[in-house]
Formats: sequence, structure tokens, C-alpha cells
Amino acid sequence: MTKLRFNPDLMNVPLYVAGRSIQEIQEKFGLDKVVKLASNESPVGPSPLAIQAALEMMEEAHRYPGVADGVLRRKLAKKFGRGFTEENFLIGNGATDLLRMITQAFTFDGGNNVMADATFPMYHILTTTFSGECRVVPLDANHRFNLDGTLAAIDDDTRIVFLCTPNNPTGAIITQGEFDRFMRAVPEHVVVLMDESYHDYVTDPSHAESLAYVAQGRNVIVLRSFSKSSGLANLRVGYMIAPAEIAEYVRHALMPFNTSDIALGAASASMDDDEYNERQRKTVLDGREYFQSAFADLDLQTISSQANFVTFLSPPMGSARLTELLLQRGFIVRELTMFGMKNAIRVSVGLPEENEAFVETLKNILETEGVAA
Ligand SMILES: Cc1ncc(COP(=O)(O)O)c(C=O)c1O
Repeated sequence: MTKLRFNPDLMNVPLYVAGRSIQEIQEKFGLDKVVKLASNESPVGPSPLAIQAALEMMEEAHRYPGVADGVLRRKLAKKFGRGFTEENFLIGNGATDLLRMITQAFTFDGGNNVMADATFPMYHILTTTFSGECRVVPLDANHRFNLDGTLAAIDDDTRIVFLCTPNNPTGAIITQGEFDRFMRAVPEHVVVLMDESYHDYVTDPSHAESLAYVAQGRNVIVLRSFSKSSGLANLRVGYMIAPAEIAEYVRHALMPFNTSDIALGAASASMDDDEYNERQRKTVLDGREYFQSAFADLDLQTISSQANFVTFLSPPMGSARLTELLLQRGFIVRELTMFGMKNAIRVSVGLPEENEAFVETLKNILETEGVAA
């Protein structure tokens, strides 16, 4: 072992700690029922069309993946219009896989990447993995991206600016006006990565329309996922939309057969299921509204969310203690220290009965457990 040469940058990479599993908490606390509201998955199961397509593709599981990648890219190109073709799309093993490819493709030779202090941790983890420098810009006082500060952090050696809208873990968006101003000022040697994994849940009409910039051939990469709103988190399908030249370049970092036809077939089929997509979106939007007002009624300070989760700040007994008390009662939520927020908890929207049971339990804890840590 000691004779091996380890990459010091890799050794410094913080391990991504995933949300805890239902089985783990059932065993630890001897609980029959555990509700997971921790990983921003869709609370609604997959579309029946997606299940059927995956089962059909299973018949071919002995073959390496084949045509499904092109089929999905052409379907996405048709959906988004704007003159896009399959050349503008790249499919990943989840959006995370694409984040890896993009970071690997642009971060080399001592470059730096700019990111917020409270955002999806993979930007930081991947930049460090590929030996880049992380330039971290704090969110503003309203927990929103500080785009002026982001511009100020860019220098000649900046490769990627990671933006996330709606941002995980705040749920706050970047508006069209903010993004337009940013795009007027950002230098041309920088890749602007717009992580829009939660895009399907946005209802605010002022949300930035980043695809227009991709269509103009600007250095913008838009990231989307089938994990959050299509109920396919376990199948691992994400995609990026970029000018064809950028997509072609990033393709060099793609592993052969990075996604299965089973997963891609399911993703394709779920795009066709309008009834499912509307039902699952409505379930989440109703649940989000319910959480926002229920948390406010409990005197918890929430951040206005455009995603499938709601984050509240400064619970009286501290976020670590409250997370533990919720776990003991069968509710898994996300304490946000790893996401760069102190004393905050993110709660993913569940099914209506899960949301109600959660609020009831939270209320009970706040009333009975007092303030002491
Ligand atoms: C902002 C953001 N980007 C990307 C991802 C990864 O999504 P996927 O499951 O498609 O890898 C997540 C998942 O939590 C996320 O919150």
C-alpha cells in the first residue's frame, strides 16, 4: 500500500454522503414505517409506460446498449425545437455523470471553477477530483446566487461557472433579467453550466430561459435529469444541451455504454405519458405549497422554493438535533451542512399523506422537545 502513489487532490475530495436509506433507518430504530423525504426523488412511482418499456428492453439485456441513445436524443431535440438536433444532446448516467464529463473536459492544467458556497456539492467534489481550484462565492443575504460576485471571481484561468436554478438546496431561481445581465458580462473563454435538474417544477414566469443562449451558440451547457420529475432516479438518466461543438468535445470524456437501453427506453417512454407527467407535477406542486405554509405556521423561516423540496432555517433546537429526532420517529430529511448551509434542513415533497404525517410529527417535536440542544 505505502508504495502506491496516491493523487493528493483525490485524497482531499470529500466523499459524497448520500441521503440515508429507508432500510438503514428501519433497522437502526426498529421502525416498521419510514418515510424518506431526503433525496429530492419524485414521490410518485414511474410512469406505467416507462415500466413497460424497461421490461421490454430487458429481453435484450444480453446485448450492449445500441440505438436507444440516438432515439432519445432525437426525441429531446424535437421536444425542445429551436433548431436543435441530436448533435446538441449528450446523455449521461444521471446528470452527475455529465457533470463529471464536463468538469473533466474543461478542468485541467491548473484552471479554476467558480461556484456558490451553498449549492450541489458535486461541483466542488468534481473540481477537486480533476485538480482544479474551487472559487467559492457566498449566496446573497436572501439565499440567492450573487451573480456580480460570481463575475468578479472569474479570471483568465476560469473554465466553468456552475449555476444551479432552481438551486439545490435553497430552491431559489435565477431570473431572466439576472441571467441576461450575467451573460452580457461573462467572458467568452468561460463555460456557463446551468444545472436545471429541477426545471420541471418551476412555476415562476421570471425564471431564466437559458436554452435561447445555447441556440445562439454561446458557451452555455444546460443540464437536465430524469431523476427528479420522471420518477426514474434509480435508472440514472440525465442529459445536457449545448452548442454542437461543445457537445462533440465533451463526448470525448464519455465512457462507452454509460447508460443502458433499459434506462433510456424507460426515459423515452415516460416523455410520452402526459397524464403521468401532469399528475406527478401536480402532486409535487401541491405538496410544496402545503409545506411552505405549514412550516411558516410553525414559525420556521423557509426559503421560497421552485423545486420539489422546501428548506427551512434555524430550527430552535438546531438542525442536527431536529434531524435526529425526526429519524427516531421515522422521517428522513437532509441536514444541510454538507451543502454549505449551517442550521438548515431540506425536506423533499412526498405524497400528501406523508407530508401531513411529517408536519404533524415536526409540530409535535417543536412543541415537546424545547429549545435545548
Ligand atoms: C442540482 C443537481 N444536479 C444534479 C443532480 C444529479 O441528478 P442525477 O440523479 O440525474 O444524477 C442532483 C441530484 O440531487 C441535483 O440536485
